[in-house]
Amino acid sequence: MSLKNIVDTIRDKIGDAFYVGPKGIIGVDIGLSAVKFAEVAKQSDGSYKLLNYSAVNLPEGTIIEDEIQKEDEILKALQAGFKGLNSSNRFVCIGLSGPNTLIKRLQLAGGSEEEIQDQVFWEAEQYLPFPIDEGNISFSVIGENQGGGVDVIIGAAKKTIVESFKEIVERSGVKVKIVDLSAAATINVFENVMGEEVQTKGKTWILMDLGAQKTHFMIYKNGVLVFFKEISIGGLTITEEIQRQMGVNYVEAESLKIHGDGSGNIPEEIVEIINQVFDTFFAELKKTIDFWVSSTSEEAFDGCILTGGGAQVPGFTEALQELLETEVQVLNPFSALSYNKNNITEEMINEIAFKGVCAIGLAMRSMPK
Ligand SMILES: Nc1ncnc2c1ncn2[C@@H]1O[C@H](COP(=O)(O)OP(=O)(O)OP(=O)(O)O)[C@@H](O)[C@H]1O
Ligand SMILES: [Mg+2]
Repeated sequence: MSLKNIVDTIRDKIGDAFYVGPKGIIGVDIGLSAVKFAEVAKQSDGSYKLLNYSAVNLPEGTIIEDEIQKEDEILKALQAGFKGLNSSNRFVCIGLSGPNTLIKRLQLAGGSEEEIQDQVFWEAEQYLPFPIDEGNISFSVIGENQGGGVDVIIGAAKKTIVESFKEIVERSGVKVKIVDLSAAATINVFENVMGEEVQTKGKTWILMDLGAQKTHFMIYKNGVLVFFKEISIGGLTITEEIQRQMGVNYVEAESLKIHGDGSGNIPEEIVEIINQVFDTFFAELKKTIDFWVSSTSEEAFDGCILTGGGAQVPGFTEALQELLETEVQVLNPFSALSYNKNNITEEMINEIAFKGVCAIGLAMRSMPK
């Protein structure tokens, strides 16, 4: 046996002892349909391994947009989720999204660092859904623009929302070390999975997270996020339409959408409702893409990558491919991420692949020094 093989064999045997750096952080993604928890470790070769994962479904109406409606339900889900995760780690990274957050590209005149910062605050003020001094704002320069200035992408969240989520998560006995934007976490996983391919100059990708209450539509170009829009349509839109048209409750409507008539067939009426929601959603998408094309005069995309539970709606990928005229694929985090087979079963893999990406991306953040 060569030396390399011996090293590889030892590494396989004692796996966890080879993790480098500080012990990671637990990613907690509070979505409308469920709270998801992930713990990953960075390995010596730079790749990530999913150590633990859990998810707890939330009853209807627990959160609406970014407002917590039923504190007790969230707290119960957090406690159950941390228990299910079975980790001794108590440090957490949470993700925020919704109407009290903002991700936006700004075209600025440029100048010194200080001048750019002034311009960011000046410009951001018009787009922020709250007064500027009530928010946490960060930005990064993503490139030069044609006018000789710079383009920046800003991320912002209202302080009261940051505090309310932090407070409720900490009531379950953990410490929130990082508050991030959910979209940034999705991008973490996207970059990790796609590797060099998306970093290449001149390549443009669409990345979409189809959740329950909303869809995050992102354009990623030359290795950075250049456009972001939160569209208020997701899996819940279909569920609510089924409830309304078929006179059933939330749980029944979810089941009809996901499991159909019980023998794996989706009834014709449900397919019809799904198609109606697709029409509204695609009209909204088209408007968004037309806006991007008209403001940048760029038309071609190199691909579209999907994640989120909503992407599992039958026929969605195909219909989207027709609309976009570009290849549409589902993001598979496990093409770049190994996992602990003792804690994560084969049955969990498909579910995590669609719904767990944001939690995994949050867990990939490194702990602040
Ligand atoms: N097999 C399936 N077929 C169709 N829809 C599905 C399937 N599985 C899950 N969904 C839908 O996916 C959605 C949940 O996805 P996800 O977990 O990504 O959302 P979320 O993070 O809870 O919501 P949000 O990010 O909008 O707050 C629900 O609307 C659910 O009905
Ligand atoms: Mg989500």
